[in-house]
Amino acid sequence: MTDTLTPSKHVTGSSRRARKRVGRTLKLFLLEALLFAAFVISIDLPLTGLEIHEWLGIALAIALIVHIVQHAGWIASTSRRFVTTASFHNRVNYLLMVALFIGFASITVSGLVISHFALPFFGADPPGGWFWHWLHVWSAEWMIWIIAVHLGVNWSWVVSATRRLFGRRPARTGGSA
Ligand code: HEM
Ligand code: HEM
Repeated sequence: MTDTLTPSKHVTGSSRRARKRVGRTLKLFLLEALLFAAFVISIDLPLTGLEIHEWLGIALAIALIVHIVQHAGWIASTSRRFVTTASFHNRVNYLLMVALFIGFASITVSGLVISHFALPFFGADPPGGWFWHWLHVWSAEWMIWIIAVHLGVNWSWVVSATRRLFGRRPARTGGSA
């Protein structure tokens, strides 16, 4: 008799696909949790001191590029359908994404222009100045709200990914999947 509690030696195509899906969700989830943590830490300069703040901000900018590449398919298809068939939800999400992109570009560029460690480390002598300092802090403050809305719009994904990754799985019983 077949022991239905023992995993089969022959991994089926559908279980391999399911594992791949969980692997992809885990990667997205970890990167997004890191993005969020890095942003929250970056907001509080005294927590890290200026040198760590600058390098953490640069690491965050690199992680954001990965995040954007991971969603390149969605960006390309929504760009094509934006004025024609995109849903209201996707249009709002798209406009938020543009605001996020501009905001993060502004934080990173202004941060580099006023940096005391990062650019000088590469031999450059950034000019600084009140305007860039003002732009840096102003964009960071705006981003708090825009990220909150970005997370709100994608909240159902966050909840379902958390359940899928950390929720209790039902006990396996015999029978087909
Ligand atoms: C601290 C910064 C950020 C955090 C914590 C964050 C988090 C998230 C989360 C949780 C999702 C939904 C899960 C998923 O589909 O993978 C998501 C989706 C997405 N994010 Fe972000 N994100 C951030 C910044 C950005 C930035 C700067 C951009 C763009 C320039 C961006 C573009 C997108 C896009 C295009 C999607 C897919 C939307 C969809 O499929 O409906 N995100 N982000
Ligand atoms: C998402 C990323 C970032 C956020 C949220 C952020 C946020 C902030 C905030 C809120 C302040 C003001 C602190 C205060 O005056 O009390 C600040 C200061 C500063 N940030 Fe950032 N920052 C980020 C990335 C960067 C990067 C990438 C650099 C440079 C490589 C940088 C360089 C600086 C410098 C030099 C100051 C101090 C300015 C001064 O008072 O002389 N930041 N940042």
